[in-house]
Amino acid sequence: KSITLDITKAEQFLAKGAVEAYESKVKAAQEALENGTCAGNDFLGWLHLPSSITDDFLNEIQAVADTLRKKCEVVVVAGIGGSYLGARAVIEALGNSFAWLIDDRTNPTILFAGNNIGEDYLYELTTYLKDKKFGVINISKSGTTTETALTFRLLKKQCEAQRGKEEARDVIVAVTDAKKGAARTCADKEGYKSFVIPDNVGGRFSVLTPVGLLPIACAGFDMKALVKGAADMEKACGKDVPFAENMAARYAATRQALYTQAGKKIEIVANFQPKLHFMAEWWKQLYGESEGKELKGIFPAACDFTTDLHSMGQWIQEGERSIFETVISVETPRYELDFPHDDENLDGLNFLEGKRVDEVNKMAELGTRMAHVDGGVPNILINMPELTEYYLGQLIYFFERACGVSGLLQGVNPFNQPGVEAYKKNMFALLDKPGYEAESKAIRERL
Ligand code: PA5
Repeated sequence: KSITLDITKAEQFLAKGAVEAYESKVKAAQEALENGTCAGNDFLGWLHLPSSITDDFLNEIQAVADTLRKKCEVVVVAGIGGSYLGARAVIEALGNSFAWLIDDRTNPTILFAGNNIGEDYLYELTTYLKDKKFGVINISKSGTTTETALTFRLLKKQCEAQRGKEEARDVIVAVTDAKKGAARTCADKEGYKSFVIPDNVGGRFSVLTPVGLLPIACAGFDMKALVKGAADMEKACGKDVPFAENMAARYAATRQALYTQAGKKIEIVANFQPKLHFMAEWWKQLYGESEGKELKGIFPAACDFTTDLHSMGQWIQEGERSIFETVISVETPRYELDFPHDDENLDGLNFLEGKRVDEVNKMAELGTRMAHVDGGVPNILINMPELTEYYLGQLIYFFERACGVSGLLQGVNPFNQPGVEAYKKNMFALLDKPGYEAESKAIRERL
C-alpha cells in the first residue's frame, strides 16, 4: 500500500492536457536535481537522504533517545522553523491528542520551545518544569537563532540548577552544525552529546536528519519505519519514474498549471484529522520558504476541517476564486468508535446509529470536496491509508520532492530563504546588538 494522488478534480479547471504539457519541464527539473545543476545545488542533501540513512546511524540516535527517555519525565525540544516543525508534525500526527494530560510513565512528555519569544510562554514553561526531571534537545543549524538560543540559555541554567551540572550533561543534547555557531561551541565545551546537521540539507528539508529523528525517537515512535516510508517514496518519485506514475511530478505540475493558467494564487492544504494540523504547518514552511520569492509564489495556507468549515468555509465556498485545495485524507483511523442508539432521540441523530464516527467524517469530507469543486475550487486529493510512521515518511518525501520540482518549474531557487533575514536585521538593530551600530542609528532615525 502507498499514499496516492488524485488530480482529476483539479484538471477539470484546466485546459485539456495542461498537466501533461509539463512533462518535459518536469523531466528537466528532475534531471537538474539529480545532476546537481539547478539553482541552490549546494542544498541537495535531502534528495537521496532516506536511502542513505544506515541502521547504525538510526541505532546511534535511538541510544541517545533511550537515555533521554530513561532519565527525563519531560523533554523540551528547542528549535524554530525547519529545526522544529517536522518533529512536531510527526509527533502530533502519531501521538495521543491529549498526551500532555495523560500520566504515562512509559513515554516522556515532549514539549516544544524556542519557536517564539513570548515571555508568558517561557515563564509558564519554566514554571511548569520547576519540579520536573527534564532534558533539552537544542536544535539549530546556524547555532545562533535568537528565539532558540534565548530559550536554550534559560533551560540550560534551569536544568543545571535542578539536576546539577554533571547530570545535566547527560540530558542536554545538541543538534547543530559540525563546526560553526554558538550551539556547537557550547556543546563541545560542555561535553554534550551532539548530532550534526549536514551542510547540504537546508532547515525545512531536515526532518529526516537528527533534527526530526531524535525528538521522534524520544517520543517513542519508530523512526526506522518513517525512514523506510521516505526511502520507498524516494524510489517512487525518482527521475526515471514515468510522469504518469510519478506523484511528486504530477502534484508539482498541477499546482504550477493552476497558478499560471487558472489564476489560483493560494493553495489551502486541508485535513479532516486534527492530528495533521502540524503536518500542514510543516508543509506551509516547506512551500512558503521555497517558492515565495522574486515577487512570485503560491501562498500556502492550511485549514483543519471540519473545524474551519465553520470559520473559513464561507470564504472558501464563495470568496474570491483565487484558491485551490489539497486535501490530505486518512483512509482508516487508528481506533473505532460507533455512534450509539438513544431511545428518546432528542438530538434527532438516530439516523447515525451504528455508524462509525469516521463514516460521518468521511461523508463530511466528500460533501465538502464536492461543494468546493462546485464553487470553483480545484481539488487535489492525497490519500493516506493510515496515520503511521511509514505513510508519514512517504508523505514527507513526496512533499519535499514535489517542492524541489515545483520551485524549479517556477524559476526560483527553491533552497534559499534570503527574505527571512530582513526582520532579524531590524530586530538586532533595535536591540543594539554589537556589530549593528550603523543599522541601529539608521533605524532609530526612522522611528
Ligand atoms: O528552513 C530554514 O532554513 C529555516 O526555517 C530555519 O530552519 C530556521 O530559521 C531555524 O534556523 P536554525 O536551524 O539555524 O536555528
